[in-house]
Amino acid sequence: MQILFIGDVFGSPGRKIVREHVHHLVETNHVDLLVINVENAAGGFGVTPAICEELFELGADVLTTGNHVWDKKEINDYLASAGNGSSARRVLRPANYPSKAPGHGDYEGMTRSGVAYAVLNLQGRVFMIHNDCPFRTADRLLEQIKAKVILVDFHAEATSEKVAMGWYLDGRVTAVLGTHTHVPTADTRVLTKGTAYQTDVGMTGPYDSVIGVEKEQVLARFLTSMPGRFDAARGDVRLNGVLIHCDPQTGRANAIERIMLGQ
Ligand SMILES: [Fe+2]
Ligand SMILES: [Fe+2]
Repeated sequence: MQILFIGDVFGSPGRKIVREHVHHLVETNHVDLLVINVENAAGGFGVTPAICEELFELGADVLTTGNHVWDKKEINDYLASAGNGSSARRVLRPANYPSKAPGHGDYEGMTRSGVAYAVLNLQGRVFMIHNDCPFRTADRLLEQIKAKVILVDFHAEATSEKVAMGWYLDGRVTAVLGTHTHVPTADTRVLTKGTAYQTDVGMTGPYDSVIGVEKEQVLARFLTSMPGRFDAARGDVRLNGVLIHCDPQTGRANAIERIMLGQ
């Protein structure tokens, strides 16, 4: 089976390029499962229920997030009210946030062709807020998950922590895909026990920017240390993702391919 994962969608330029390409990508690659990271989908900071619904209408099966998940206040009630069978239940926040935080960090579903799958969202702790241990959280959740096809979005800053998670889960999940740093890495591979891996899938948004934000605003922050606005940039918009081919019986990956599309 084929899984398509799209990296951090950034603002309206990111959403637009997803709209433009996703149907073609899904059809030509016979994609069975589509997962999109949406932590920056609303103006670069957070995501709204309306944007989640829009991406579900475009065919997303599960939406993952990260540290920016709480930036738009309306997402809290949406995640808190997510009952079984609701589309909100298919929007994940990292599983290793404290249990009182709204929402869920994992989802188990069934593809249209009848393959059970799970998606797990975790957040790193190196150079990020200190949540529960992502490694032990993965252990705990994997004990409960029955599906063989398991995709992990590991939202983390440090390359070392992401590589470590890849090896920790090698042979136990279908894919460990890094998000958060917004720059795609060139280490796309299948690890020795059959887990597809990439340290960072890269952002889906404007690359004429500093990781999505207008570059003049970021430079001003670095040059003056003064607070200021951060707006989503608009130029050189690209879609970044990975296509994973896996065996639905075992959940092990056979291949992972990087995708970068322009407008
Ligand atoms: Fe992000
Ligand atoms: Fe992030």
